[in-house]
Amino acid sequence: MIFAGFRQRYFDVLASIYLYNEFRGYTSLDRVLEAVRLRCPDDPAFQAEIEKHRADEHKHYRMFRRWFERQGRMPLVVDRGVGHIDRFIQWVFQCSIDELDTAKIVATPDQFEQLCRVIMLTEQRGYAQVEIILKNRLIMSDPVMKRIFQIVHKDEPDHFLPYQRWLERHGRATARWNERAADWTIHKVLMLAKLPALFLDSGRERMTHWPDEDPAAYAH
Ligand SMILES: [Fe+2]
Ligand SMILES: [Fe+2]
Repeated sequence: MIFAGFRQRYFDVLASIYLYNEFRGYTSLDRVLEAVRLRCPDDPAFQAEIEKHRADEHKHYRMFRRWFERQGRMPLVVDRGVGHIDRFIQWVFQCSIDELDTAKIVATPDQFEQLCRVIMLTEQRGYAQVEIILKNRLIMSDPVMKRIFQIVHKDEPDHFLPYQRWLERHGRATARWNERAADWTIHKVLMLAKLPALFLDSGRERMTHWPDEDPAAYAH
């Protein structure tokens, strides 16, 4: 009985964090697409890769939403503190994703490259994390979760390779040591502080709206 409660809580926390990050992923990619269409108008292949990336993240979001619906529970309330990309953008650009100045990024080659590297590192981290999850027996004991993470794992290389190849094609560094250090630190904060804190916060409320239906869902 205690184990059943622990297990359910663990899944709720994991799925709530994933749901947030998938939602943040596909909605933020709209901003990136806007920048790429302006910066690389003659590179429709690159644009198509990012459109596919967005479609995948949207699909992932729907899979986690569906998982909660099957459970008959809503996700736990979380905020951008659990968002890897939110923390990374804040670190590199000193602003939130919503405050990113697309026009400035497009006009400043260094910033555009930085944005590509931030997305590439975030997605590489996501891929490595899914590999760990696929070896986790507790998570794999839920057949629907198992299927979700197998699909995510299959999609994930298409999410960092376009940015990596773009940087390589243009002779740009694919990552700087300080960006790798930022990525590593953010990951540790999420895994060692945010995730356990959410797990232990028994009074944590559940969301009342789905973020794809209500833009303010994460603010309720
Ligand atoms: Fe995803
Ligand atoms: Fe991804």
